[in-house]
Amino acid sequence: MKKCLQNMNVRNKRVVLRVDYNVPMQNGLILDDSKIRETLETIFYLLNENCRIVLLSHFGKIRNENDKTKYSLEKVTERLKELVGEEVYFSKINFGPEVSKRVGLMKPREILMLENTRFMDYPNKLESKCDSQLSLFWASLGDVFVNDAFASSHRKHASTYGISLYLPSCIGFLMQKEIGALDRLVVHAIHPFTVIMGGAKIDDKISLIESLLPKCEHLLCGGGIANTCLSALGFKVGESIISLNPEIIERVKKILLEYKDKIMLPVDVIVGSTYDKNYVKYKLINEIDDNDVILDIGSRTLQKYKAVIDNSQTIFLNGTVGRYEDVRFANGTKELLNMITSSKAVSVCGGGDSASSVRNFGYGEKFTYISSGGGATLDYLATGHLVALEAIREENTIETLDM
Ligand code: 3PG
Repeated sequence: MKKCLQNMNVRNKRVVLRVDYNVPMQNGLILDDSKIRETLETIFYLLNENCRIVLLSHFGKIRNENDKTKYSLEKVTERLKELVGEEVYFSKINFGPEVSKRVGLMKPREILMLENTRFMDYPNKLESKCDSQLSLFWASLGDVFVNDAFASSHRKHASTYGISLYLPSCIGFLMQKEIGALDRLVVHAIHPFTVIMGGAKIDDKISLIESLLPKCEHLLCGGGIANTCLSALGFKVGESIISLNPEIIERVKKILLEYKDKIMLPVDVIVGSTYDKNYVKYKLINEIDDNDVILDIGSRTLQKYKAVIDNSQTIFLNGTVGRYEDVRFANGTKELLNMITSSKAVSVCGGGDSASSVRNFGYGEKFTYISSGGGATLDYLATGHLVALEAIREENTIETLDM
């Protein structure tokens, strides 16, 4: 494990704390504040240690000036203030002498949130390209760097990785919890271990699938992943989402051959149509027409998947098996959640849309563990590694960079 906050001397120090407050927001309202709540343990610990806390986070992607209005962290700061129960100051700028001056004036136990780190991405992508001057500047604001942004740790950016090159660094409590839980529950899963994968795009997930297949007994598929597999096996999938990348299709064919006893695919589905938005039909998988779009799994598939779920000791869920935002295609995802949480298995959910679907359908409390990461969770499970943490020392090595 990387150097942990509880083993770092932070007493009375100025701490640059990287969090991931990339929360879902609509019309200025935060739809889900769990990413903020999950960092509170680290924040309260640092307050107790009499630290001055400079908070950094990204929010959305900044590709033009307009995005800067849409993705300011000001509203997020207000929510954090309510949750912490103490003043949290906000700085509309995150770079330059004014910021250094403001940070210089901070008192012990003061929290200051700087504006979205990705504001530095327009026009020159300084944050995303891990610009060394920017990394150095943010490092200059603290004595210590704490990275608690698990969901961003697959990004080698100035605020996630760059700062750790210039300051004594460690990981916060959320990062420790995430890595610990994924290791314990998924990497060293109790068997039979079942992986359920859905979501639209297989291209981003093929490496994860390849890495999990040798470790699990069953892979139950839905969504674009299942469509690509079905298409690779010669089934007609109409206008359904599939990967068109020849390299991915080759890899899919390879796993289908090598792991044919582990991979399960839908035998029946609910289809819509690109031409008629009122068209909804139940079909067996060999009945798909040219204009059909597979949008959910059917009842026979659910029964087959249930038999496997009931027999599992560990289940890892990633993605949804249908277009669950549309009630006509939500049944498969909802039923699967019900089956998973009614089973005796340890259940872990992580990556992309899965956590929102779990919470939206009211199963949030019933899962053993829900990871706060999307891409980061998948990257960690596929590679056992998080690029943002590369420069943070392992727990038992001696810190040479001292103040
Ligand atoms: C996430 O929501 O998965 C993280 O905040 C990472 O966001 P990003 O994909 O924009 O880097």
